[in-house]
Amino acid sequence: MHIVMTGGTSGFGAEASARLARAGHSLTLGARQPSADTAQTRYLPLDLENLASVDAFAEEVTRGAPIDALLLNAGLQLAKPERLPNGMEKTFFVNQLAHVYLLVRVLDALPDGARVVLTGSGTHDPAEKTPVTPPDHADARRLAFPETDPALPKAARKQAFRAYSSSKLANIMTARHLARLRPDLSVMAFDPGYVPWTGLGRANGRVIATLASLIVPRLMAGNRSSTVAQSGGFLAELATAPAYAREQGSYWSVRTPSLVRIEPSALARDEAATARLWEDSLALLGLA
Ligand SMILES: NC(=O)c1ccc[n+]([C@@H]2O[C@H](COP(=O)([O-])OP(=O)(O)OC[C@H]3O[C@@H](n4cnc5c(N)ncnc54)[C@H](OP(=O)(O)O)[C@@H]3O)[C@@H](O)[C@H]2O)c1
Repeated sequence: MHIVMTGGTSGFGAEASARLARAGHSLTLGARQPSADTAQTRYLPLDLENLASVDAFAEEVTRGAPIDALLLNAGLQLAKPERLPNGMEKTFFVNQLAHVYLLVRVLDALPDGARVVLTGSGTHDPAEKTPVTPPDHADARRLAFPETDPALPKAARKQAFRAYSSSKLANIMTARHLARLRPDLSVMAFDPGYVPWTGLGRANGRVIATLASLIVPRLMAGNRSSTVAQSGGFLAELATAPAYAREQGSYWSVRTPSLVRIEPSALARDEAATARLWEDSLALLGLA
């Protein structure tokens, strides 16, 4: 298979891409700092903060071999809110809007039966009661411009947490919407569980990131904490295993030691909110 991936350079995404290459698949990885190509893996520049970079990446991958699987796994979590030069909130832009932009740019090049996996997170669901402030809504305009959001928490840290959980909610809703737009594809959302020792906590600094990796797994329900090897392995399976060849927006969550299909949050299942999120995301990207 030819697998195109964002977020394949670090954390459990790097584990997934390494496994897929070892299994003989050919990979194209979008990378902020591309490495030298190998026999199985081609690196192309991709910075999701910058739509011109996403455009160039999309142009290049649609010109190459047909895409059998598209894994949208890149993501960031900030310690305090940040804006991009275009004025939009950085987490929502990188995790959601830039991925929607990439999807739209490559959609016509995805053949019947191609797989698309978007990495979400259990933090999207208030019922999971994770330490991350859960989403309050999935209104793309308010998420892109939080100063317009009456539900914005006061504390900077909670704002950053909510931006993250909301972006992951948006990823899961986008998978469900894509499945309706293109029923010929196999579309999934993936929750890797809590995975310590990845780069996700890097904005907190090394000391806090290390402490979180040591402590958070002990505070969580045993089956909600995972490992880089386990979650990377599950992502590789979603991309290639025959069992996942006909998925219509299903949500797969790591419940150690298994990967199980569960329902996402009530808001993630709201079809009207999901369609609105897609339309508003396109409008914010200048694509509507
Ligand atoms: N770790 C967890 O507990 C956890 C739980 C639930 C969901 N997730 C999700 O899982 C995914 C992978 O996270 P991880 O924990 O493995 O973290 P990670 O080690 O920080 O990996 C994040 C990946 O995203 C890429 N990325 C970040 N910003 C980017 C940008 N502006 N342009 C292009 N690529 C960018 C990174 O590229 P670089 O190599 O250039 O940094 C890296 O490959 C994320 O979507 C995250 O939200 C993680």
